[in-house]
Amino acid sequence: MSDVDLPLTKGFSSKASPLVADLLKSDSRELPPALKAVGNYQPKTLPLPMSRYYDPAFAELEKERLWNKTWQFVCREEDIPEVGDRIPYDVGDLSFLIIRSGKNEFKAFYNTCLHRGTRLCNGQGGGEHIRCPFHGWEWSPTGQLSKVPSNWDFPHVIARSEAFSLPEAKVATWGGFIFINPDMEAGPLESALGVLPEHFQSWEPENHFTFAHISKRIHANWKLTLEAFLEAYHVIETHSDAMPFTGDATTQYDIWDDGESHVSRLITPLGVPSPHLGDEASGEAALQGVAMVMAMAMGPGVEPARIDSVELGRSQVAEWRRQTMGAALGRDFSQLCDAELVDTIQYFMFPNFCPWYGEGLPLVYQFLPYGDDPNECVMNIRLLAPVPGGDGPRPPSAQIIELGPDDDFTTNVAQIGVLSHIFDQDMVNLPIVQKGVRSASPSHAYSTLGRYQESRIAHFHEVLTRVLGIVDGK
Ligand code: FES
Ligand SMILES: [Fe+2]
Repeated sequence: MSDVDLPLTKGFSSKASPLVADLLKSDSRELPPALKAVGNYQPKTLPLPMSRYYDPAFAELEKERLWNKTWQFVCREEDIPEVGDRIPYDVGDLSFLIIRSGKNEFKAFYNTCLHRGTRLCNGQGGGEHIRCPFHGWEWSPTGQLSKVPSNWDFPHVIARSEAFSLPEAKVATWGGFIFINPDMEAGPLESALGVLPEHFQSWEPENHFTFAHISKRIHANWKLTLEAFLEAYHVIETHSDAMPFTGDATTQYDIWDDGESHVSRLITPLGVPSPHLGDEASGEAALQGVAMVMAMAMGPGVEPARIDSVELGRSQVAEWRRQTMGAALGRDFSQLCDAELVDTIQYFMFPNFCPWYGEGLPLVYQFLPYGDDPNECVMNIRLLAPVPGGDGPRPPSAQIIELGPDDDFTTNVAQIGVLSHIFDQDMVNLPIVQKGVRSASPSHAYSTLGRYQESRIAHFHEVLTRVLGIVDGK
């Protein structure tokens, strides 16, 4: 029997916890275009070779055919607010320097000095010139060579200084996000973004800023780490304490693929119990649970939403969010629907970018190989917040908190509240999955995915296989 002949069951529900499509029918507002849209693609469920997570030859292929050829998210515009501000972007052992080269203009340069190869940008910085720390060669923010100390010794450079402009990668922006593509022949970013601009239009990612920013080193492959965040299937085991207020098995998964853009999404509703808890699970406890979590997220001493009746459902929590966020930020959130204020709605754009949608949980994930070791990665996590209303300046982007492989979130990142606890639960798994895949029996060295809940992982690998030009199924 082929994969396509098998039945596809799109989620599991209970009396207190309907499937997302049914839950959204009771929203107190008109749904935005994003939440009316459904996916147009269903991948095949194929076995995935575990060697993809540790084989150095596979990582080398990714460097050559993926990272050197793909539009990829690098940072937010607010990370480099002034002309001359810059930040390094490291993906494996490739490195680029992202700089604000004009008021509304950005450039990306290979992060390597043209004299003797020193890495030019080693952390967030600014200033009028890009200066190499070794002998002090300098470039302008637009990449022109502007100074060579002891220039009498470099007449061969001065005579053809335009040949010593910093080599560039393509740069483009959307919604405050900056992207690069090292392939100067690549098509426009828009083709890779697919449905994202249309879906995110009403939520305005450009009117948000980075409120918290964590860079976490993990002893696991970047794909294996990404995949742990593409499904809600693991809630039942890994985050079981969230089940009383999380619709894990009712989660809706959508995929959009037109051959050029590869985007997927999950909508995990909060304020409803997991259907795994059965029909006895209390709708009221689910509402109280999410009200408490949302109040904690607003800061200490904030009174949670009052739950007057189970029948009124999540709209009570949503209305509380409209009021409290509106008052705190001086902005009008009356247009946002309940789901945009309560649920966790995560998009994914191939190969490694997860912008979340709505105020429910406005996170941004980015997964990066670390150096040339396929067993290591970096997961960058941002929590965005709406820019306050009024005429004041935009709040600055949060400083990056660097966490090593053994640093936990709960101790080191208190400002993201209960999310720290959830990330710590995820982080326990990743190194042991990485170890496990490396020691699999040769007779069963492949992953076996669920058809619906893990369909985004199947889709990701389908695209990756194509991009890498793999034909023998490795
Ligand atoms: S290596 Fe950069 S100035 Fe010498
Ligand atoms: Fe998780």
